[in-house]
Amino acid sequence: MITLGIESTCDDTGIALLQGDKLLCNLVASQIEIHRPFGGVFPELASRGHAHHLLPLLDQALKTTGLLLEEIDLITVAYGPGLMGSILMGVTCAKTLALALQKPIQFVNHIEAHLFACAMQTEKPVMFPALGLVVSGGHTSLVFMEDFSSYTLLGETQDDALGEAFDKVAKLLHLPYPGGPEIEKLARLGDPSVYPFRPAVVKGKPFAFSFSGLKTKVLYTVRGEKGENKEREPSIEEKQNIAASFQSAVFLDLCQKLEKAHAIWSPKSILLGGGVTHSQTLRSLLEHASFAEKVIFPDKDLSQDNAAMIAGLGAWKHQRVKEGDALTVKPKPRIPWKKCKSITH
Ligand code: KG4
Ligand code: ZN
Repeated sequence: MITLGIESTCDDTGIALLQGDKLLCNLVASQIEIHRPFGGVFPELASRGHAHHLLPLLDQALKTTGLLLEEIDLITVAYGPGLMGSILMGVTCAKTLALALQKPIQFVNHIEAHLFACAMQTEKPVMFPALGLVVSGGHTSLVFMEDFSSYTLLGETQDDALGEAFDKVAKLLHLPYPGGPEIEKLARLGDPSVYPFRPAVVKGKPFAFSFSGLKTKVLYTVRGEKGENKEREPSIEEKQNIAASFQSAVFLDLCQKLEKAHAIWSPKSILLGGGVTHSQTLRSLLEHASFAEKVIFPDKDLSQDNAAMIAGLGAWKHQRVKEGDALTVKPKPRIPWKKCKSITH
């Protein structure tokens, strides 16, 4: 079965083709250069970027694989969460193809797909029950998973997503967007013990995350106690130490929450997904955790936004879920986790 994956929920346009489980091609058109001057994603420009890239990428994917459009058996697309205008581009493209080619569509939750990317690597099998941690530019969620598509939310961010916090701290340090890779590079040369940064503890929610207080702490460190020196650029040594202290604080927070959740729920696998998992520092840190043998990261080219994970999860779901009249399914900029229950621990 040939599955087409379409990703357009934020600023990356992705087209992928899968044959059964085998990834034939995974193309991503990045818009980083367009959004860099704004220090974050400019939504209208992101939508226009998808309109510009989607069909040429599809053409390129067909040329690369030697497939014909008519040979696609299933069309899969991320229908949320994300930016409404951006999602609409991918969903409209998918519905139009489905109607023209008379092929089925499967709609996919973008965050679930980040976790499914772990099942597409070949080193370790994913086993259930599992814990899933998604850390991306828009999301930070820890879930208990009975299977793919069956989740209990254990905790999520109360304010900034982790990738967003990386991007905002990078901006304060006068580093380009996206901030995560820049902070990681600088942090290698810094001393993580110089600044006593710590993410906030969320009262009564042991698995919730909060990064905005930490980001404000960085702001005061850079600009003075009242944030008065708005134009101040820290020295290179200061930047390295801030980057190292910030990165070490937030990754320690992730590791401690995973350790605690592991002790309570005894999962067989621990899946990590989302752009922040591109960090080699985070990958190396978790190699030393007590539960390291259960940890699964996606391959690096599937850790940031891509359409291969959409096609993978879409094909998996298509064998199990009947979508009904797919052409009436609407984009969902905010999708709640399925089977959300509150937790008492
Ligand atoms: O999953 P993703 O590609 O897009 C969203 O769905 O949001 O994640 C993008 C985020 C950005 O905020 C970026 O700064 C962060 O992932 N990121 C990193 C690293 N590489 C990308 N954060 C920390 N360390 C990295 N090496
Ligand atoms: Zn993402």
